[in-house]
Amino acid sequence: MVRSAVLNVMVAAARKAARGLKRDFGEIENLQVSLKGPANFVTAADRRTEEILRAELAKARPGYGFLGEEGGRREGSDKTHTWVVDPLDGTTNFLHGIPQFCISIGLLRDDTVVAGLIYNPISDDLYTAERGKGAFLNDRRLRVAARQRLNEAVIACPLPHHGRGDLALGLRELGAVQDKVAGLRRFGAAALDLAFVAAGRLDGYWERNLSPWDVAAGMLMVREAGGYVTDLDGGDRVFEKGHIVAGNEAIHRHLLAALKTAQS
Ligand code: IPD
Ligand code: CA
Ligand code: CA
Repeated sequence: MVRSAVLNVMVAAARKAARGLKRDFGEIENLQVSLKGPANFVTAADRRTEEILRAELAKARPGYGFLGEEGGRREGSDKTHTWVVDPLDGTTNFLHGIPQFCISIGLLRDDTVVAGLIYNPISDDLYTAERGKGAFLNDRRLRVAARQRLNEAVIACPLPHHGRGDLALGLRELGAVQDKVAGLRRFGAAALDLAFVAAGRLDGYWERNLSPWDVAAGMLMVREAGGYVTDLDGGDRVFEKGHIVAGNEAIHRHLLAALKTAQS
């Protein structure tokens, strides 16, 4: 597979930033048993990783804007291009020594995601996609799963918890889907959930209360693997609304319909 110049930039930045993240993950086991716990340490790891990504991306594309979870928005001289970055998606997993977390980098041209990267430094799974050019896991071209019926589908779901979103609605939505599917999974890293849908490991995924950096790269990944991604109203405003549903055409449609029954 031949990567474009911009994807090469993204891959190099992610690999560099991942070295520190991997080292920090190794430290977690020790910190886990300390009284203070690893929480502050993890906050520092997020920030440090974002700073490396920002610096590396800016070195290669000095004019581009940057929107990062930790540092917020920085305008660039080039108003059409913006990096959308989650330096560590799956913080709770990271904090608990669970190796399901990643770096996520999306590139927006105006409001369209044109390139995406999702990298799990522990498994060394590198997902990349470019608009119109397909999605890849390392060198392998990705295709969403072909299952057509919910009763054979494995779906990644959100699990509303303390202080996070509308718990009653979340439980109604879980209830509406749970008895129709072959299995629900809660992995805890939105970007990787979308990457798994793109890779056909999962048949679908939905979640609320997300931010652009959680989903920018993953949305493109799923679409470039032949899948469908919308907000929970079936529209295109995932970033503004902060909710998402993904799958192949049939699973996306069935999932959307099942979730709708929970909204009234
Ligand atoms: C979180 C993860 C999680 C999702 C949360 C996100 P973070 O991102 O993607 O799976 O349920 O809504 O905020 O905080 O680990 O970067
Ligand atoms: Ca995130
Ligand atoms: Ca994060």
